[in-house]
Amino acid sequence: VPLSSVDAKSASRLRDADMPRPFRTAFAQAPILRPRSTGFDPIDGAPVNYYTVTQMAAVAAILPRLTTPILGYNGIFPGPTISIERGTRAVLRVRNQLPARHPIDGHVLSTSTHLHGSASLPQFDGYASEVVNQGFRKDYHYPNGQQARTLWFHDHAVHKTAMNVYAGLAAQYHVHDPFERQVLPQGQFDVALTISDAMFASNGFLAYDDRDHSGLWGDVMLVNGRAWPVMQVQRRVYRFRILDACVSRSLRLALSTGDAMTVVATDGGLVPVAQPVSSFRLASGERYEVLIDFRKFSPGQRIVLRNLSNENNRDYDHTDKVMAFDVVDAAVNTGDPTWNTIPTTLQRSEIMSLTPAQSTKTRRFRLKHHDVTNEFSISEETWADVVASGFRRVIANPALNAVETWEFENSSGGWHHPMHLHLVDFQILSRNGKVPFAHEKGPKDTVYVGEEETVRLLVKFGPHRGKYMLHCHNLPHEDFDMMAQFSVGLVDGQYDPNDPMTAAPPSWDDG
Ligand code: C2O
Ligand code: CU
Repeated sequence: VPLSSVDAKSASRLRDADMPRPFRTAFAQAPILRPRSTGFDPIDGAPVNYYTVTQMAAVAAILPRLTTPILGYNGIFPGPTISIERGTRAVLRVRNQLPARHPIDGHVLSTSTHLHGSASLPQFDGYASEVVNQGFRKDYHYPNGQQARTLWFHDHAVHKTAMNVYAGLAAQYHVHDPFERQVLPQGQFDVALTISDAMFASNGFLAYDDRDHSGLWGDVMLVNGRAWPVMQVQRRVYRFRILDACVSRSLRLALSTGDAMTVVATDGGLVPVAQPVSSFRLASGERYEVLIDFRKFSPGQRIVLRNLSNENNRDYDHTDKVMAFDVVDAAVNTGDPTWNTIPTTLQRSEIMSLTPAQSTKTRRFRLKHHDVTNEFSISEETWADVVASGFRRVIANPALNAVETWEFENSSGGWHHPMHLHLVDFQILSRNGKVPFAHEKGPKDTVYVGEEETVRLLVKFGPHRGKYMLHCHNLPHEDFDMMAQFSVGLVDGQYDPNDPMTAAPPSWDDG
């Protein structure tokens, strides 16, 4: 079944009567994925969870009267959440049981699964060109040695990431650790919010229009795949793991009451000091964990999570809302200390303990758009250059465990670019020469580089050697062709064919 059998630009849009309205749908979260088995690593005895997800076509109920074909992990969008303890390894088997061709543009559905935020070995990182064909599968090995954090896995197929993620191939992945278990709400009070946007053709199918690779801005806001849902909340402190999984849209989130949310974690886990903010912006790929204290509100009160960004809100004025919280009643205090606690100091991760004085090299990258080719580039490099070089070309070649200062200057005119570095965490040193925003004073792997902005990052390159991608996370930009690769700890930036740990990744298509 095609998602959209017509060119999205000419597709008649959803009839008004079929358009979902804000706050009519109950909030829900993706289910937690159970391991198909558990065991121990035969070499070092570490616990291992074995998971399987199957990429497949399915039908979703997003609109009030029409159904929408999607592509999803286990046929749902977002896919099931993986929740695992630090130190427990995961082997995620991803089966490609997708239809042969993508419903929107007919491209061949070969996929590559990337766990965004994981320090994975290069052969398990979801390298864009190392795709798994329809009917095949791959086992991805994840170490989960990092501090507690919110990650997500999504498709990363070369040149097709935007359409594949848009069609539904995205899911959250949570790593827990003992400290985080103690200080932040858990269980039903630890809530995933995967925010995305979509546009629909008149038959309810997803429509796709990336405005000549500028970006896709849908007119329907989804949280966990539901349009503007309403969540019932008790009068206590909740933790929300907010992921901007939009293809292009950035958000500026705020509560309708003007009350503060407290940022307790960023992409790479807990922040050293909790940051109360009245609003914060985030772009595609970024994750922020916030605490919201509902104790001060009265039962029956509705608090709206608003989007103050004015980015392309012209189409439909409800993109200024994301979801609503309806306060039901006081929480029964069962002795859970997190029910009324907003912590102040949390945890200083390794990357947040580093200082600029430890940096051994500064590299500068300019983000550009080329009017003639309509391509986006990183210091004049594109993924086409990497492919043309036989995947040899690297934009930087830091030593293993090197600490470096990386600067991104956005002179592309008219676009923000969320820049994502695979493998590593970094800290944001400055934004336009000033201290970073309060909400981004934590470990990060994706940084919002606004129009005419310059950001400086302190990055530690490790713990693995290999070649890793960096790219813009506005997904049409990534696909056209704003992606490059850097190497870590490789001589001349190249894999040693005699070194089993860094040899060119093997083929995992074992049927
Ligand atoms: Cu979330 Cu390389 O991407
Ligand atoms: Cu971009």
